[in-house]
Amino acid sequence: MDFNEEIKRRRTFAIISHPDAGKTTLTEKLLLFGGAIHVAGAVKSNKIKKTATSDFMEIERQRGISVATSVMGFEYNGVKINILDTPGHQDFAEDTFRTLTAVDSVIVVIDAAKGVEAQTEKLMKVCRMRNTPVIVFINKIDREGKDPFDLLDEIERQLQIHVHPLSWPVGMGQRLQGVYNIFDHKMYYFSGNDKTKAEEPQEFKDLNDPEFERKMGRNAQILRDNLELIEGVYPDFDQNLYREAKIAPVFFGSALYNFGVQELLESFIRIAPSPQPSQTIEREVKPEEEKFTGFVFKIHANMDPNHRDRIAFVKVCSGKFLRNTNYYHVQLDRQLKFSSPTAFMAQKTSVVEEAYPGDIVGLHDTGNFKIGDTLTEGEKIHFKGLPSFSPELFRYIENDDPMKAKQLAKGIDQLMDEGVAQLFTMTMNGRKVIGTVGALQFEVIEYRLLHEYNAKCRYENISMYKACWVKPNDQMEWEDFKRRKFKAMAKDKWGRDVYLAESAYELQMSQEKFKGLEFYFTSEFE
Ligand code: G4P
Repeated sequence: MDFNEEIKRRRTFAIISHPDAGKTTLTEKLLLFGGAIHVAGAVKSNKIKKTATSDFMEIERQRGISVATSVMGFEYNGVKINILDTPGHQDFAEDTFRTLTAVDSVIVVIDAAKGVEAQTEKLMKVCRMRNTPVIVFINKIDREGKDPFDLLDEIERQLQIHVHPLSWPVGMGQRLQGVYNIFDHKMYYFSGNDKTKAEEPQEFKDLNDPEFERKMGRNAQILRDNLELIEGVYPDFDQNLYREAKIAPVFFGSALYNFGVQELLESFIRIAPSPQPSQTIEREVKPEEEKFTGFVFKIHANMDPNHRDRIAFVKVCSGKFLRNTNYYHVQLDRQLKFSSPTAFMAQKTSVVEEAYPGDIVGLHDTGNFKIGDTLTEGEKIHFKGLPSFSPELFRYIENDDPMKAKQLAKGIDQLMDEGVAQLFTMTMNGRKVIGTVGALQFEVIEYRLLHEYNAKCRYENISMYKACWVKPNDQMEWEDFKRRKFKAMAKDKWGRDVYLAESAYELQMSQEKFKGLEFYFTSEFE
């Protein structure tokens, strides 16, 4: 197969949802279709159950599982599919944000009874920022749920995207008769069994067909009325608008009963984009370019403290990645060679000789990589789109064992490279502040510092609202601001100036007073 065909047949995407909407179940069913796994229950959920939110030992256990499920690759009808896993727990939202920089599209799973939930909204914000094409799967229609029209309205309103239903449920819960596929005019009947092979659907181009009436009973008229409404409200489905992230096609189904999943998969393959160009600070990189480029979007530390190596997950953006070949690490300004790059097929990993745009390779790392690092064949480019987001919680981190200062520094450094949390160094006194998305990370950091680096840390509370990266449109004003806010200024891991605002009020005052400065809650804003 030639290089361009290899690119065209790839689909790299993530499934996102609020915890419990059915992401793990759907992932598993997709893998079953791809023949990547053979029994249900094979995908271990890497979510942290609600009952265990404060149990970070559970997180450690899950961390072991999640290497295997970080990327799940499989083949289906000649298409190479790469599903990138995202942690379900909201305290790890930052991991999910970064993973979303490596995908070309997403499937959003929504619970039909609960509708749009908080985490879905947050993640969709990132998709909108990046113009990522989105397909919506409304799950659990085997249970009583909200009215489908209400669900669509809710999605449009809360996720701020136009929708277009491509399938429509006939009944719901106990009265679920099936789903009518608007795209291919077929009726799929719900049998209530978990089947890997979907039952043969029936084609009804004309819904006034007496056979349709006979099969569906009074639901026939209801469906006809609904479809008429849909046609009136939602214009024809336009694949280009979906690719431009302006419209989200919607499917209904039940992941648990494997209902509607195959249609979702087949439509996904048909409409979802193959690897797309990536933006760097210097220029746009096209997947078809001959020379290899890629970036690190995730780093996973080994669980075994005796083998402190890590796996850096690299997204191939252009060209072909080859084993045992020298590549240029832009940030280190050094050539590196990889003898055992790993590919992820289903839940197995294996050494690969080559990888194509859209693929993810795992590189064993002894501390050379940070999130966002670039590999090329020599060109100095820097991939965009891996911004730091302002943490929600802040604490000072202090050394609690004077004999282990070095270990602590190293531990903090490496954990930050992995993206566990963010570190800010106060300009005034060099004190270190850790910022996280959720409270769990503080426990994780303390635990891992002790167990992996033999270092003891102590936290000190600090009252802080947000970390702001500043775009100084007026240099004089910027210098003045830094002087006045000296106590609140810090450097992030990359040495950029960050303003740590103490309260929403203080930030608002700064915004009003310093008109020549723009304040952002992410480090990338152009
Ligand atoms: P998540 O990864 O998004 O967090 O959700 P997950 O797939 O783990 O699903 C959450 C719960 O919802 C699971 O039940 C799962 O069986 C159930 N579920 C998923 N899809 C459907 C569906 O289409 N219909 C129905 N009725 N239920 C569905 P659980 O009892 O919490 O977990 P488990 O003990 O069954 O694993």
